[in-house]
Amino acid sequence: MGSLHLALLSISCLVSLLVVGLALVVRFKSPNPRAREESENYYLCIDEKHERQRLGDINSEPTVDLSIIVPAYNEEERLPVLLNDVHDYVNSRRTREPGFSYELIIIDDGSQDKTSEVAMEFAQIHGIRELKAVKHVVNRGKGGAVTQGMLCAQGRYMMFCDADGATQFSDIDELLERAKISERDGLVIAIGSRNNQALSGTVVERSHVRAFLQWGFHTYVTILGVRGVRDTQCGFKLFSRKAARLVFPKMHVERFIFDIEILLLARYQDIPVVEVPVNWHEVAGSKMSIVRDSIQMALDLLAVRLNYLLGNWTVSDNR
Ligand SMILES: *[C@@H]1O[C@H](CO)[C@@H](O)[C@H](O)[C@H]1NC(C)=O
Repeated sequence: MGSLHLALLSISCLVSLLVVGLALVVRFKSPNPRAREESENYYLCIDEKHERQRLGDINSEPTVDLSIIVPAYNEEERLPVLLNDVHDYVNSRRTREPGFSYELIIIDDGSQDKTSEVAMEFAQIHGIRELKAVKHVVNRGKGGAVTQGMLCAQGRYMMFCDADGATQFSDIDELLERAKISERDGLVIAIGSRNNQALSGTVVERSHVRAFLQWGFHTYVTILGVRGVRDTQCGFKLFSRKAARLVFPKMHVERFIFDIEILLLARYQDIPVVEVPVNWHEVAGSKMSIVRDSIQMALDLLAVRLNYLLGNWTVSDNR
């Protein structure tokens, strides 16, 4: 056998291996979210003597100015900090704008600790009728929790934010303002960005390892199709109701890289995305294990991209 044959043989072996590899990634890494359990259609609040109430629907008309969705998994320690921040924000906004209405949806994503109890206790102490606590029977992951919260939100604008209070909550005003400027046909997504020392002098405190991984991730994400976004992963994102309707009913990813699917869906549907610098500090107790989760994220991301590429998922897809 000549060396040409050998070369061709090795190339076809490599290509087959690659194809098999990609097929395995799609086969085993495609998320397939479970249906809601009956009890997950209800929330608790301090109204009506703790009777549970039925959740709303993203496709109905809005009833409040802002929906704040907080995915929370075993967050009994950190959640009160965020709840306080939101409470302060609402109080200060109401002095400027007395009619301001909102809802605060805490999605307890199958916690083993007292996350939802802590939320309800906070609502009780401060008399917050706008707080709604939903408890997932089985954990979905942050993206799944956000999606489930968005699907039942009632706001004209809807945001999600991390339960750890890492982003300064009052920065939501900046996001709202910038969203209104960039809105087109009622469509806009404003995302917090922690990557912007050059832009604004925002204080960013981050370890070197994390900075390096962030760089690698950013490069990989760019290759896989999300361009022009500096910080895809910031857990502080705002949607106009119309934009949320085009995004969340079509979501598949329930784990960390759900942000990327949001941005891909935005790109496919021509929804304007504006990045807004936010104040942010690293909070102890992160649930990310750097090596394991990086590999996991890389494979998940590949699966997402392949599913859209192969047409298994489409933007006209409605679950
Ligand atoms: C298509 O997508 C579904 C839902 O994510 C997934 O379960 C399935 O494995 C995918 N199928 C193929 C052939 O990619």
